[in-house]
Amino acid sequence: MKSQLKCVKCGYISPGFAAWFEQDQTCPKCGSKHSEAEYQADYTQLEALYKQGADSFWHYFDFLPLENRDNIISCKEGAIPIESWDFLEDFAREHYGIECRALVYRNDLNGGTQTFKDVAGSMAASLFKEHGVKQYCIASTGNTATAYAKYLSLAGVAFKVFVPAGANEDSVQEILGFGQEVVRSQGDYARAKQEAADYARQNKVLISAGNFDPIRVEAKKTMVFEFMRQLGKMPEVYIQAVAGGTGPIAIDKGVREIEKYYPEVVLPRMLLVQQDLCDPMVQAWEQAVKEGFPENYHKNYPVIDNPQTKVSILSTGNPGMYPVIAPIVRKTGGSFLRISEASLPALARKVYDQQGVLLGPASIVCLAGFYRALEEKRIHQGDTVLINCGEGMQRAAAFHKEVLAVAGK
Ligand SMILES: Cc1ncc(COP(=O)(O)O)c(C=O)c1O
Ligand SMILES: [Zn+2]
Repeated sequence: MKSQLKCVKCGYISPGFAAWFEQDQTCPKCGSKHSEAEYQADYTQLEALYKQGADSFWHYFDFLPLENRDNIISCKEGAIPIESWDFLEDFAREHYGIECRALVYRNDLNGGTQTFKDVAGSMAASLFKEHGVKQYCIASTGNTATAYAKYLSLAGVAFKVFVPAGANEDSVQEILGFGQEVVRSQGDYARAKQEAADYARQNKVLISAGNFDPIRVEAKKTMVFEFMRQLGKMPEVYIQAVAGGTGPIAIDKGVREIEKYYPEVVLPRMLLVQQDLCDPMVQAWEQAVKEGFPENYHKNYPVIDNPQTKVSILSTGNPGMYPVIAPIVRKTGGSFLRISEASLPALARKVYDQQGVLLGPASIVCLAGFYRALEEKRIHQGDTVLINCGEGMQRAAAFHKEVLAVAGK
């Protein structure tokens, strides 16, 4: 077996994903769903992989939990370009006197469904093929469900998605188009999650184990390898729009996995961005800052019922992962940032005018975080800033219209 899963809470070892699925993705000793994959791998091989071209995150097969390459289900995802966007660098120089590298990670160029959820979809489909999993379900606000819908249909896995009321209709239609099933909740995301959990339990169907699900984390940790391959170093700053928080959890895991062999691989300062109409993590963080980070600060967060944001995929009002993410952000010297949802169409238009790229609303939340970070003096001279833009415009028809209605230059 290439890998095993270690319970983060009690240390119990599950001997690989066959056992993990058999155990309903739960530690049999303590009941926790939070386990991390560990490998018998030769990490010195990474350096050779960094020197090669890659056409998907499966380039790092030896450091992923799939046993047999024949089970890979891929649409060329995860080895996407990191681009330098001059207009952002010029802005930082002209307005703040900051010389930085502003790099954009182009998840809209993923071959699956054009979001940063595609790597997780590919990993899930491949593992399910390997272990004979035939049914799966999830509660999702959008992009994870869409990615899984595509990849699981390629693997012949029947997939049921529970979406909150007011879920993005473009996503729903796309999921249906992949031949998968959608259950519309009458309530918000928290309610959809409950309904999915009930369904999974009653029907003994595997359900996504949430934001620290090792399937997702193992796929997304390859971001660290890609940063090293494409940049030759880790960025000093990492910016991402955050809802559940798999991205920061996975980067933390990736760095911990290889730091023993590569001490130069250190965590970037994490700047995690939320829009003002659904910003529970930012509120929690501001409170912690005000109180000087008292003991258990990370367990103290507000819940926003039925958030009124139009950015449906960033509509997690109950930030259940905050207790895991806040300490990661803190140890990196990072922060949570609030941006104005009203500012998104104009910024998306600017990106279109400058780069010829139409990005989806969650990507623009992330980019707005770059400007906010400058305002808050969180980007320093000489920093390399990695902006993880998570999606294209494919499933955002209403936003697309708004963006094109903004007067261009
Ligand atoms: C484009 C995009 N950005 C950001 C996020 C938030 O990701 P995370 O789960 O890491 O918080 C999502 C999640 O759906 C997304 O699709
Ligand atoms: Zn345990």
